Amino acid sequence: MNHWQELEHKYYMQTTERIPLTLVRGQGARVWDEHGRQYLDFVAGWGVDSLGHCHPVVVDAVSEQMRTLIQTSNQFYTIPQIRLAELLVQHSCLDRVFFCNSGAEANEGAVKLARRYGKHHLNGAYEVITAKVSFHGRTLAMVAATGQNKYQEPYTPLPVGFINVEYNDIEAIKAATGGSTCAVMLEAIQGEGGVNVPDADYLPAVRAWCDRNGILLILDEIQTGLGRTGTLFAYEQFGIEPDIISLAKGLAGGLPIGAVLAKERAAVFKAGEHGTTFGGNPVTCAAGYAVLNFILENDVTHSVMETGKYFAERLRDLGQKFNFVTEVRGRGLLLAMEFDREIARSVLTSCLERGLLVNKVKPVALRFMPPLIVRRDEVDEAIAILGQALSLVES
Ligand SMILES: Cc1ncc(COP(=O)(O)O)c(C=O)c1O
Repeated sequence: MNHWQELEHKYYMQTTERIPLTLVRGQGARVWDEHGRQYLDFVAGWGVDSLGHCHPVVVDAVSEQMRTLIQTSNQFYTIPQIRLAELLVQHSCLDRVFFCNSGAEANEGAVKLARRYGKHHLNGAYEVITAKVSFHGRTLAMVAATGQNKYQEPYTPLPVGFINVEYNDIEAIKAATGGSTCAVMLEAIQGEGGVNVPDADYLPAVRAWCDRNGILLILDEIQTGLGRTGTLFAYEQFGIEPDIISLAKGLAGGLPIGAVLAKERAAVFKAGEHGTTFGGNPVTCAAGYAVLNFILENDVTHSVMETGKYFAERLRDLGQKFNFVTEVRGRGLLLAMEFDREIARSVLTSCLERGLLVNKVKPVALRFMPPLIVRRDEVDEAIAILGQALSLVES
C-alpha cells in the first residue's frame, strides 16, 4: 500500500472496495498513476467521462465559465442552464428539464414528480413499480427503488412506496399495478445489475400498460443516456417515448450533474415544490452544453454504434477461444462479458497489471464502458490485453 492509500485507510470512510491504484492524470481514453504508468481506461469514471479525460471542449467551456460566473442560486436566470435545457429538449421527446447534481438526486426528482402527478391526476396514487436487479442510486428512497437486497438490507426500514418486480417480465408489472400505482420506473438496459438488455417487446409492452392505466413511465437513462448505447437515448432503440427520464453520468463529461426531463403533461411541479442549491449551476451546465453539442455536431452516437459493434465482435471472438466465457452482451459502448465461474476479480487484476482498466460488475462478469470517443486501435489494444488476462485463467 502506498502513502496515499495508507492515508485513505486512516481518514476516509471505507465505503468502497478500491482498486490499489492512485490516479493522477488523464487524457483521452488513458489515465496515469503516480509513478507515470499509463492505463487504457475502459471504466471512464463509471461511464461518466463520455468525451474521455480532459477533453478540450470540456476544459475550455469550464475554464471560460469559471472566469465568468460560477454560482448564483436558482432564484436568478442563468444562461448556460437555459441553453443546456433547450438543447436537451430539442434532441429528446421530452419538453421540460430540471437540473440537479447526481443520478440518485435525478431519480428522487423523477419519483417526486410522479407523486405530484399522482396527487393531481390519480387520486393520490404514490407507489412506483421498479425492477429487481436494478440500480437507481444510494439515497434512502433510491435504495428502496433499487431491487437488490444487498443495498436494502443494511438500511431497513426503507421508505414506503416502491414495489420491486422481476425485470423483463410484463406480467409482473401488471400483477403489481393497483389503485396506488402512479408510475413504473425502469432502466432501459440494466447497467449495475450486469448489463441486462430486455427483450425487444418488453418496454413497448410496459409503455402500453402504463397508457392503459393512466400511469407514468419513468426511464432511468443515467447510464444508458447521452450516446452510451449508440443512440442519444436508449429509449429510441425500443421505439417508445417515456413520460419522464433521469440523466446524470456522462451529461457534463465528468462534472457532477443530474437532470430530470418530462413531457409537458407530466411536468407538474409548481414553484417551491422542488429545488436545489447547486443544481443547474453555470459551470456544470456550460460543461453539459459543450459535451452534448460535441456529441451532436460530431455524430458521436454513430461512431459509438460502429465502434460498439466492432468491440462486441472482438469480445465474442475471445469468447470462442475461452470456453468459460458464456456470453457477451450490451449495446453500443455498454458491454459485458459473463463467465461460468467467479473470475471477474482475477481477470480485472491481470488486465490492470497489463495496463487496462475494466469494471467487475458481478463476481462472474466484467463490464466495459470506455469513453464514447474511443478509437478502434484502442479497442484492439484492450482486446489484446484482455485476451492475455483470459489466457491465465485455468480452464
Ligand atoms: C442507472 C443508474 N441510476 C442511478 C445511478 C446513481 O447515480 P449517482 O451515483 O450519480 O447518484 C446510477 C449509478 O451508477 C445508475 O447506473
